[in-house]
Amino acid sequence: MANHNSLPTIFVIFGATGDLMAKKLAPALFHLYTRKQLPDLFQVVGFSRQELSNGEYQKWVNDVVGDQQFPRFFLYQQGFFEEKEGYKKLSEFLGMKDGEWRVCSNKLFYLAVPPAHYKTLFQHLADSDLTKPCSPEEGWTRIIVEKPFGKNLETAEELDQMLGKLFKEEQIYRIDHYLGKETVQNILAFRFSNSFLQDSWNNKGIESISIRLLEQERIGGRGALYDGLGALRDVGQNHLLQLLALFCMGNPGRFDGPSVRKERAKVLRALALHSSFRGQYDGYRTEQNVLRDSQTETYFRIQAAIETSDWKGVPILLESGKAMLQDQVEVEVVFRHPDPCLCPPEEQKHYKNVLHYYIQPNEGISLSLWTKKPGPAMVIEEREFSFDYRKAFEKAEFADAYERLLLNCIQGDQTLFVSTEEIMAEWKFIDPVVRTWQQNRVPLAIYKMGTHPLWKNR
Ligand code: BG6
Repeated sequence: MANHNSLPTIFVIFGATGDLMAKKLAPALFHLYTRKQLPDLFQVVGFSRQELSNGEYQKWVNDVVGDQQFPRFFLYQQGFFEEKEGYKKLSEFLGMKDGEWRVCSNKLFYLAVPPAHYKTLFQHLADSDLTKPCSPEEGWTRIIVEKPFGKNLETAEELDQMLGKLFKEEQIYRIDHYLGKETVQNILAFRFSNSFLQDSWNNKGIESISIRLLEQERIGGRGALYDGLGALRDVGQNHLLQLLALFCMGNPGRFDGPSVRKERAKVLRALALHSSFRGQYDGYRTEQNVLRDSQTETYFRIQAAIETSDWKGVPILLESGKAMLQDQVEVEVVFRHPDPCLCPPEEQKHYKNVLHYYIQPNEGISLSLWTKKPGPAMVIEEREFSFDYRKAFEKAEFADAYERLLLNCIQGDQTLFVSTEEIMAEWKFIDPVVRTWQQNRVPLAIYKMGTHPLWKNR
């Protein structure tokens, strides 16, 4: 493929030996490489503060991906994020590489570092001219920024302004890795390619929507990052709101970046808060790097609404927690019962259909349908009709979210990345909740690990 995107490409990864690089990025690059989905000529440059030789770094990559050939594409540049020197050397290296390849190559800068470093990095990238394309005709420069993007609306706007001075919106790829998951992308196919859903997918057909991201794990070694941030900003402001946007957005007309992002943003802008609840698992305060009197929530439940003509009056529930009984990421959609209802008179029960859209660990869809029980009487019972994504596509290759996202960034497709409008709308909705919690206007409920903070109320 001889196009702009198959030009030689240099991936500069800030946070070269961090957790994200080890767990996600290096394996994703390796899989793309083995499937021949990377440009023919490419180079990965890891940038971090540690003193490492190229050989030591390649050994580290070898240990991570378990392959002896692939690490030869990796080189290491030592540098401190806050000092000019490292960026200068990096810039010299990129220039030298372009000279060797006799081309103005594509450059992808990946910020795989804690968000506290973003401002410093943006500033130095600007000052060192690293992000300036070497030619107006060939070679793009793009940047991938991890979540969380800011801590609130104000800091997100500040970051955005800094980024905006360096890059145009079409060069900025803000990650929400949930968008890269296969089951999450299937939401659009499910919603817009199945005609029977079209007329009922709004407040006329749907009674409520609940979105859950429950995790069995505690915070692990992430205390320093998690404490003070909390569940709402860790997964609510991004993953849950993006799932909601995909479930409630209007038909984008086309599956392309601008159309899909525009529709997602419309939903996010129309969000209104009804109530919130927060909890913390017992034992959280003794986790590593957590304050002994921490008020950080590890569980939240938010009741909200989407104030558009399509969704007005439909309760939306967003819920997430750590140290829960089990892993469960799913969306539950309850349909309205038919009116008038053909219900058995003695039961006074309405027949509602419930759709479960399972994201993980199960991946699939199930719909409860009402069915006549065989026999002389008209007895109606609820039965599940289900679809298992993995079984249905047994032979297909399911790519990891990061593989998909990296590939899309190389291809210049922003559909699975979050636009500035979306980020700002997400923060506008989340900020007031965080403020009420910080002012202690919603008590922090303590729950036992492996349980649910609201169980006692059921
Ligand atoms: C991350 C959060 O963004 O998403 C983590 O920081 C969370 O706290 C994780 O565990 C969940 O992602 P996944 O892909 O494991 O469901």
